Amino acid sequence: MDTIKSQEGWKEIEPGIFSVLDNFSGSAYDQKAAMYEKLVSSKLYNKIIWGTSPDDYKEFGKKGIFSENGSLLDVGCGGLIQTAAIYSQTKRPCTLVDSSIEMLKIAKGRLIEQTGKLRDSIQLLQADAFNLPFAENCFDTVCSFGMIHLFDNKQEYVQELLRVLKVGGTFYFSTMITHRWISKLYMQQLRKLNEFGELCSEKEILALFKEEKSRIKSYRKGSMLFIEGEKIR
Ligand SMILES: C[S@@+](CC[C@H](N)C(=O)[O-])C[C@H]1O[C@@H](n2cnc3c(N)ncnc32)[C@H](O)[C@@H]1O
Repeated sequence: MDTIKSQEGWKEIEPGIFSVLDNFSGSAYDQKAAMYEKLVSSKLYNKIIWGTSPDDYKEFGKKGIFSENGSLLDVGCGGLIQTAAIYSQTKRPCTLVDSSIEMLKIAKGRLIEQTGKLRDSIQLLQADAFNLPFAENCFDTVCSFGMIHLFDNKQEYVQELLRVLKVGGTFYFSTMITHRWISKLYMQQLRKLNEFGELCSEKEILALFKEEKSRIKSYRKGSMLFIEGEKIR
């Protein structure tokens, strides 16, 4: 089993949390961690706004995290509100990346709550998703839950995540799309507040993967699109 160990140049901010950023405080999510977590765990909010349930996110999280035993990268892991219990049940080496130190601290706390300690095979890393501090082709699985819709440069995002995935490796991405009118209206408001990237339909999101060397399948629940795929070359 491959383990991605902490690397030269990574600063240890506190036990188990590393950073490759020069300025490690000040990420936008540092301020909104509590509000974000309240919303995403609310059954009512997810049902009305997205036509989903938190269980849908957990089910997809399990698919990705339990997909095999090799190294796993989760980009934009947040506080692991949907996934801490799942990460605590796998022994695979996991690198959990987020740009917000506050989110990583929440994630660490949740992992410790689950198993009483932070397992050696899990590391938390503050880094920018568009400039991942890893060589090409080094992870067996790449996950990114609820992330693509945040960015305007979606193609660049997908490209960077697939760059670090091994050929033959698998990926699991979920993202909001403009499928339901209420979701679209809500996304338009969030976009005005700079909380969302350019809004995309299912077709537009799936087209991002046609540009990459991958094979995908997908399903939709409400206005959340779940994509799993394999890097083929
Ligand atoms: C919508 S939340 C998703 C969190 C988690 N994946 C989930 O499903 O609950 C977005 C997360 O991405 C992080 N993020 C935003 N931009 C990022 C970037 N450029 N690089 C790394 N993380 C980023 C935020 O700090 C936040 O924790």
